[in-house]
Amino acid sequence: MLRLAENLAQFTGGVIDRGSGVRLHLEDGTELLDFAAGIAVTSTGHSHPHVVQAIQDQVAKILLPASSLGLNRPTLDFLERFGPYLPEGIDRMWFGNIGAEAVETAVRLARHATGRPNIIAFEGGFHGRTMGAASLTSSTAKVRAGISPLMAGVVFAPYPAPARLRSVQGDATDHALEQLDRILATISIPQDTAAFLVEAVQGEGGYVPGTKRFFDGLRERADAHGILLIFDEIQAGWGRTGRFWAFEHFDARPDMIVMGKGMASGLPISALAASKELMDKAWAGSMGGTFSGHVVTAAAALATLDVYEQEELVDNAAVQGQRLIDGLRAVSESVAEVHEVRGLGLMVGVELRHADGSVGTALAARVQKEAYARGLLILTCGIDRDTMRIVPPLVVEAEDVDRAVQIFGEALHAAVAG
Ligand SMILES: Cc1ncc(COP(=O)(O)O)c(C=O)c1O
Repeated sequence: MLRLAENLAQFTGGVIDRGSGVRLHLEDGTELLDFAAGIAVTSTGHSHPHVVQAIQDQVAKILLPASSLGLNRPTLDFLERFGPYLPEGIDRMWFGNIGAEAVETAVRLARHATGRPNIIAFEGGFHGRTMGAASLTSSTAKVRAGISPLMAGVVFAPYPAPARLRSVQGDATDHALEQLDRILATISIPQDTAAFLVEAVQGEGGYVPGTKRFFDGLRERADAHGILLIFDEIQAGWGRTGRFWAFEHFDARPDMIVMGKGMASGLPISALAASKELMDKAWAGSMGGTFSGHVVTAAAALATLDVYEQEELVDNAAVQGQRLIDGLRAVSESVAEVHEVRGLGLMVGVELRHADGSVGTALAARVQKEAYARGLLILTCGIDRDTMRIVPPLVVEAEDVDRAVQIFGEALHAAVAG
């Protein structure tokens, strides 16, 4: 009998039937409060009526994806609307399907534009599972182990993650920048370095925000040496952190932005944004793809933008995110195993440690299970999978946040006791 590959891990084991807003329904009648959102994808909630309507209208009109054959109206309309969301000077976009594809397209452009081979990525970063993106990923061995040779020309530098750099004396940002300078002096000199690829808030790596000083440091070095600064906003972008772009929290200035996940409320789309000057340096015909600039995903992205604006979702993410963080801190105050509640907006992590101080991997799995048994769907992240990952749709309301916090508290206490 034909089945899905067992290798594809599924947390619930149930068959997902339908969803509405922040609620998910399984075929067996289970109703879940969804604070996972398809791993930070369903930004406007499940099946938002406005997005559904836009998709249905577009499907009824035409489904032709071939962007190399001609332009399509939804993509043109999206470009017109999206300009103001991008930093000044970034005025060209390329569309793909998944995040990894956008990351690899950014790497391709960086190499074409600079003529240099190396990309410096950061420890704990996640950029996708395709061969090039996996080569740039270090949040877990699972993505890159056993598939070598990986893409050459990748060098990893530390990210300013204090919990991860426990053995380092002094400030994590100082350490990260010192190590970066050492790498630029010894392993990948500027003339060999095309780009820095970085997340403003590491996602898979444990919901770890960077620091302004770190991103200022990257910008300075990029400007001094003609290195391009690529922000991977695939998970943290599109309002997730309470600002449209996560790098805005740090006043950072990217040369390229890659995005995906929440862009089309659940349909697969990704994109690369850069200046015309930079985009023009891509060699002719080097960017493309059968489904690049798909009419339906473009229509969904446009409708997603409508919902963001009409329902003020970025502001909502900031407000509900603070409520969520405050609530989680309150319910975990007396729990010694909670090492830290951190995050920006609705990208919230709760890092756990076992009573003996070791990383809380087993405990995190128990919390997830206990929460699920009580009707709350949450995920884990972190290089040790020791951090609860809490990412509801951006349409979440105060009542649901309070309910999720209450369930989280019960699950946490049960997991610690068990
Ligand atoms: C920051 C970041 N970059 C890239 C990716 C890869 O995106 P995709 O799975 O759509 O290829 C992800 C996915 O989780 C991500 O979180």
